[in-house]
Amino acid sequence: MRKVFVFLMSCLMALSVFCAVNAAEEHSDTLVVYFSATGTTKSVAEKIADLTGADLYEIIPIQIYTAEDLNWNDRNSRTSIETDDPSCRPEIASDELNLEGYDTIYVGYPIWWGDIPRIMSTFVEKYDFEERTMIPFCTSGGSGVGQSDKHLEEQAGSGKWVKGTRLQAGISNDDLLKWINTNK
Ligand SMILES: Cc1cc2nc3c(=O)[nH]c(=O)nc-3n(C[C@H](O)[C@H](O)[C@H](O)COP(=O)(O)O)c2cc1C
Repeated sequence: MRKVFVFLMSCLMALSVFCAVNAAEEHSDTLVVYFSATGTTKSVAEKIADLTGADLYEIIPIQIYTAEDLNWNDRNSRTSIETDDPSCRPEIASDELNLEGYDTIYVGYPIWWGDIPRIMSTFVEKYDFEERTMIPFCTSGGSGVGQSDKHLEEQAGSGKWVKGTRLQAGISNDDLLKWINTNK
């Protein structure tokens, strides 16, 4: 009887270790990637991740953008100079991303000069999005998506890109859910 008890306990322990290992390896099949210089896109990205149960990945520049860098009234500010140079690819400091297991990827960014910030080009050129559904979204002071979603798709060269959407800063969960469901 004691042997049977010990055997059953061993089986139970083995099963719980197996489950713990598997749980640690599992992650959502949805990822929200975003770049945000002043926090607006970040807060929308976090809401999307909350509502979808997605993982979050922030694109952090090696050289963080200061208020001076972001001054669009200054033709010599860093962002102005980057915008004027189509070959500019600001470096990313964030850890390398492993896309295994993600089949839907939201890609969020602020509109800069009517388009994507150059660091978004650095990001999309770096990874292979084959077979994945890519959902671009942006925030802005008022401009629409323009050609920014097309530029992301062209520069990525892989992935199934849906049409991009501008999302209002402070968008309600209800409106966000409606948008999320249109992409399903
Ligand atoms: C360099 C620069 C250029 C911008 N260009 C535009 C623009 O062309 N149209 C617009 O509506 N907003 C523009 N904006 C405003 C941002 O798109 C807006 O504030 C955005 O929500 C910021 O997102 P973030 O806080 O995630 O960085 C610009 C901002 C910066 C810093």
